Amino acid sequence: MHPSPVKSQSKTMKAIVWTAYGPPEVLKLQEIPKPIPKANEVLIKIHATTVTLGDCESRKLDFPFPLKLLMRFAVGFFKPRKKTLGQELSGVIEEVGEKVENFKPGDQVFASTQFHFGAYAEYVCLPANHHVVHKPDSISFESAATIPTGGLNALHFIKDANIQPGEKVLINGAGGNIGTYAVQMAKQKGAYVYVVDSQAKLPMLLSIGADEGIDYQTRDFTQLGHTYDVVIDVVGKFSFSNTIQVLNEGGRLVLGNPRVGTALRGLWTSKTTDKRVIPSLAPYTPEYYQKMVDLLASGEITTVIDKVFPLEEVPEAHRYVEKGLKQGCLVIKV
Ligand SMILES: NC(=O)c1ccc[n+]([C@@H]2O[C@H](COP(=O)([O-])OP(=O)(O)OC[C@H]3O[C@@H](n4cnc5c(N)ncnc54)[C@H](OP(=O)(O)O)[C@@H]3O)[C@@H](O)[C@H]2O)c1
Repeated sequence: MHPSPVKSQSKTMKAIVWTAYGPPEVLKLQEIPKPIPKANEVLIKIHATTVTLGDCESRKLDFPFPLKLLMRFAVGFFKPRKKTLGQELSGVIEEVGEKVENFKPGDQVFASTQFHFGAYAEYVCLPANHHVVHKPDSISFESAATIPTGGLNALHFIKDANIQPGEKVLINGAGGNIGTYAVQMAKQKGAYVYVVDSQAKLPMLLSIGADEGIDYQTRDFTQLGHTYDVVIDVVGKFSFSNTIQVLNEGGRLVLGNPRVGTALRGLWTSKTTDKRVIPSLAPYTPEYYQKMVDLLASGEITTVIDKVFPLEEVPEAHRYVEKGLKQGCLVIKV
C-alpha cells in the first residue's frame, strides 16, 4: 500500500548542512528553506538515505589528483557550494511540476542525486527524467536507498568481469556497499568467490555466499599460492604487479577505483599480455536500475544493512563509516 501523500505546509525543512571541507563536525543540523519543484521536477519527501565511503571522501575532499581538482570545480573551490551531502535516497513524491508526466504524488521512488548531492534532508527536488525510479512495495525504503552506489556499481563491475561458471573470482574490499552486492552477483554467475576484507567482516561475507575469506590485515591475497580468473578491486589498495602475476591466462582485473597511474599500467598490460585490465566507471542507466529492482524484488539478492541512524546523527554515522566499522551499507532514516 502506498502511503497517502500528506502535503507539508511548512516552508522549511531539517537538513544536515555541509559547511566546509573537513572532519564530520563540518556537518551541522539546520533548518533551511524547503525546495519548490520546477516544471520538470518532482519534490520527494525523503524516507531513507545512506552514508557511503564516497560521501566521507567528498566531505573532506579526499581524492587523488586530478580528481581532487575536478571536484573543487564541480562542488566548490574553497568550500562546498552544495548545501547538503548525500547521493542516494528513497521516499515518496509529494509534488510534481506541471510538465511531469511519469510520476504523481504518492508514488514511492528511489533516486540518485550524484554530485548534485542533497539527500541528507527531509526533502529534495530532482528532475523527473534524471535517475528517479519507481520503487515496488516489495523493496523497503532502506534497501532501495542503497541501490545507486552499491547496486549499480556492483552490477557494472560484474558485467565488465564477464564471469563464466566455475571461474575463481576474488573481490578486494568486499565488505562494503559495492562489495556485498558484487559477492552475491558473482555467486549467481556460478563463480567460486574469494573475498578480501578485514577479519570482522569475513563471517558476514561467508553468510551471503562467499566461499573463502582473506583478512587483508594479516594475509596478502597475492602471496597465498592461489591464482584467479578475475580480480575485482573495489578499494584501490593492492599491488598491481603482484595481482597481474596471480591472474590466470585470459584473466581480468577490474579496477573499480581506478587511479590514473594504475589505469595506464593496465592499458600496457592489456596490450602486451593475454590478461585484460578494465578501469570500470559505472554509468547509471535505466537498464541497471531496472535490473537491480528485479534482483531485489525477486529476493535473488539482498541488501546487507549494518546500522540505521536518524538524520540528526549523520556526523556520528560519518565517524562510524570512516573508522571502517560499517559492514555492507549504512542507512539514514529521515
Ligand atoms: N568506480 C566507480 O564508479 C565508483 C563508484 C562509487 C564508489 N567508488 C569508490 O569505491 C570505493 C569503495 O566503495 P564502497 O562504497 O564499497 O566502500 P566501503 O563500503 O567502505 O567498502 C570498502 C571495503 O574495503 C575494505 N578495505 C579497506 N582497505 C582495504 C585493503 N587494503 N584491502 C582490502 N579491503 C580493504 C574496507 O574495510 P575496512 O574499512 O574494515 O578496512 C571496506 O569494508 C570508494 O573509494 C568509492 O569512492 C567507485
